[in-house]
Amino acid sequence: MAKRVLTTESGAPVADNQNSATAGVGGPILLQDQHLLEKLARFNRERIPERVVHARGSGAYGYFEVTDDVTGFTRADFLSAVGKRTETFLRFSTVADSLGGADAVRDPRGFALKFYTEEGNYDLVGNNTPVFFIKDPIKFPDFIHSQKRDPFTGKQEPDNVWDFWAHAPEATHQVTWLMGDRGIPASYRHMNGYGSHTYQWTNAEGEAFFVKYHFKTNQGVRSLSAEQAAELVGKDANSHQTDLLQAIERGINPSWTLHVQVMPAAEAADYRFNPFDLTKVWPHADYPLQRVGRLVLDRNPDNVFAEVEQAAFSPNNFVPGIGPSPDKMLQGRLFAYADAHRYRLGVNHTQLPVNAPRATQADNYGRDGLHATRYGSRHDKNYEPNSYAGPAQTDAALGAPLAVHGWTGTYGTAAHVKDDDFFQAGELYRLMSEDEKGRLVANIAGGLSQVTRDDVIEKNLAHFRAADADYGKRVEEAVRALRED
Ligand code: HEM
Repeated sequence: MAKRVLTTESGAPVADNQNSATAGVGGPILLQDQHLLEKLARFNRERIPERVVHARGSGAYGYFEVTDDVTGFTRADFLSAVGKRTETFLRFSTVADSLGGADAVRDPRGFALKFYTEEGNYDLVGNNTPVFFIKDPIKFPDFIHSQKRDPFTGKQEPDNVWDFWAHAPEATHQVTWLMGDRGIPASYRHMNGYGSHTYQWTNAEGEAFFVKYHFKTNQGVRSLSAEQAAELVGKDANSHQTDLLQAIERGINPSWTLHVQVMPAAEAADYRFNPFDLTKVWPHADYPLQRVGRLVLDRNPDNVFAEVEQAAFSPNNFVPGIGPSPDKMLQGRLFAYADAHRYRLGVNHTQLPVNAPRATQADNYGRDGLHATRYGSRHDKNYEPNSYAGPAQTDAALGAPLAVHGWTGTYGTAAHVKDDDFFQAGELYRLMSEDEKGRLVANIAGGLSQVTRDDVIEKNLAHFRAADADYGKRVEEAVRALRED
């Protein structure tokens, strides 16, 4: 094999990569040592801003294969035929910690999936939890600040975490989920993924449906206890990355089965829960799971920075036949992600290989900007409409329209007959085995007992009591016992 020559960025050969050029032996370094200057300057610029949330993650490529006919519900081309395969990229993540954080911690996990479809990239940016802590995007920065490092102590503070929840009764459902057994997955392979929000599907006849996505792990759900997780973090802080990387390198390709819950659009207005409230699930008895297909991960990225750190998923990357619902959280996210990408990766982040369409090509009049690499061909016009056969709109609506009415204003999420902040949290508690209830109570008490203010503890206890009297009583007793220690 021909020997590879080390070069500068301009491609010129490097003579010495061990000794910098000096004025004589032992003299000062010469400014003309281009290789040294370039090497140091480039090194200084290796980091880009980390994601403001979900900074720590792992990614892999794979494919999605349709196993069941869903053409009655959506005209999305990648779901149009049983057996059809679409290339995918999935990034898993933790939420609260910074890039160097440990994997085996109690935290929701991100489940961000990019389908490289022939109609453009479809991003489904979900979590391993079917619900979320809040239901209005205006609360998101405050929520995240309360969970991340305190500006004075520089550490995560139980006072802040629980003070936010004291003021957010709607979080009780997700807090119960997070503090329960599924709060620390054993690995990324052993957890489910959820779209969490309700999305809109539209079929070829223009009929609208509301759907929720559930990716069920075929490896089985496995979780870690708080003690097991603490031990694992000490042994391998990157345990989830290690697990995913090694499994795929060995050909043990993880897979998930995608199911959807489907609600005909006309049923949304009178459903007992507001179907666009992200703190609520749709019980399966109301809307059963219907199988759609299989997701398989079978290839590790070659370069973590290029493909995982630079990956950009945006909930507003839809394809025809799939679109947003009026869920306010989702609506906020439709803005937040691409804005984050423009800041973190630049305006041309969609041209990076991991983010660019693969089964089709972007063709539009967006131009220039920092690091532009896509520029069409020599005689392309940069305006539209034009007389030169440039790309033009299709005139085909992407989805069914949504009826809206009322006055503009700042409103709380509309409550349907069965809606309150606690009922579903209580249902989740009552579903748990006696052992799991015990671990849930211990996990909550472990955090809540560290809070310094009695009024903040009391407000949180009131939420657990409202969910289920037994739940509230047991948390109260466990907190008291720990505080008396
Ligand atoms: C209004 C509420 C929310 C806002 C404003 C928000 C905002 C953000 C932002 C700015 C990022 C960083 C994006 C980047 O730099 O690439 C992010 C990442 C992420 N968010 Fe959210 N988020 C919200 C709620 C949610 C919810 C409800 C879910 C799940 C259902 C979710 C799942 C994710 C995931 C999985 C990532 C990581 C994506 C990746 O792997 O690159 N977020 N979020």
